Amino acid sequence: MIWFDQNKRNLPWRHESDPYKIWLSEIILQQTRVAQGMGYYLNFVRTFPTIQDLANASEQEVLRLWQGLGYYSRARNLHFTAKEIWNERNGIFPNNFQDLLNLKGVGEYTAAAIASIAFQEAVPAIDGNAFRVMARYFNINLDISQPKTRKYFFELGKEIIHPDRPGDFNQAFMELGATVCLPVNPKCEICPVNDSCEALGRNKIKELPVKTKKTKVSNRYFHFLEISDGDNYLMVQRTQKDVWMNLFTFPLVELKENEVWSSNLILPEIELEKKQEEIHILSHQRLNIQFYQAKVSSKQLKIISKELNADIFPMKAINELPIPRPMEKYLMNKI
Ligand code: ADE
Repeated sequence: MIWFDQNKRNLPWRHESDPYKIWLSEIILQQTRVAQGMGYYLNFVRTFPTIQDLANASEQEVLRLWQGLGYYSRARNLHFTAKEIWNERNGIFPNNFQDLLNLKGVGEYTAAAIASIAFQEAVPAIDGNAFRVMARYFNINLDISQPKTRKYFFELGKEIIHPDRPGDFNQAFMELGATVCLPVNPKCEICPVNDSCEALGRNKIKELPVKTKKTKVSNRYFHFLEISDGDNYLMVQRTQKDVWMNLFTFPLVELKENEVWSSNLILPEIELEKKQEEIHILSHQRLNIQFYQAKVSSKQLKIISKELNADIFPMKAINELPIPRPMEKYLMNKI
């Protein structure tokens, strides 16, 4: 704790006791590094200073502000939960671990982080960082991909958590994991607990934590069709329960790996020109993206929009829509 007090990063949510803002910071930081998440957090609290503001926003606004952060279900759940708390719980944020767990998008880690940081409840927040720090410090070689291992670490965490400063204790673990006890090349020489770290003493740092199940990554092949009359573009909102749900993209054709693309399969009347290729990596998917471009008359644009179930947007309006990162990058090159 002395190490944390002297070395903790000065992060905006650390000056907050408002559970809404702590919740927001924890959701943003779930799969995002502090350096990337910071700007998003500041934008969110500026745009939606209270849970009422977030509850009254449209989902499109929330997704637009989230644009580029990825894992958009976090934003959809955030908005859903804000509406639920505002409309069905009189705006009162749950104030303990068990009740927090009932919120959509809030798992054990996030509930523990909010309960400890906002309400000083002594419950350990076990994320990937905490797994790594504890596995090394106590030399635990249990497989962290097993659900029962989580329980073991949670129970151990309950025993060691600081009863008077549980929020700081949890954040000290996050801090140690993020800045010192790194997955590769950890900085053991500056670690505040290097004299009592079991794994370091036994030269086992590299072997811990144990994780047997590797994340499976599957390839997908997306073909985006930029169809415009020069001023207006076709866009579709993704409604399926799939990557980028509720965001907008150009009309999209997904093909198999070796399936040969032929524009006349879908739009025999127009010439599509091959443009940029892009690879976009998600946690479980590798998206192989190919952009195509076709310029058509305004009349044709209307006809094709009906065929493809797409909407017509001028470029200025596209700038207001939530769109995935690869689309954003592609459009940036055009402006
Ligand atoms: N990562 C997740 N939550 C965090 C927090 N409160 N401080 C720093 N990093 C974090």
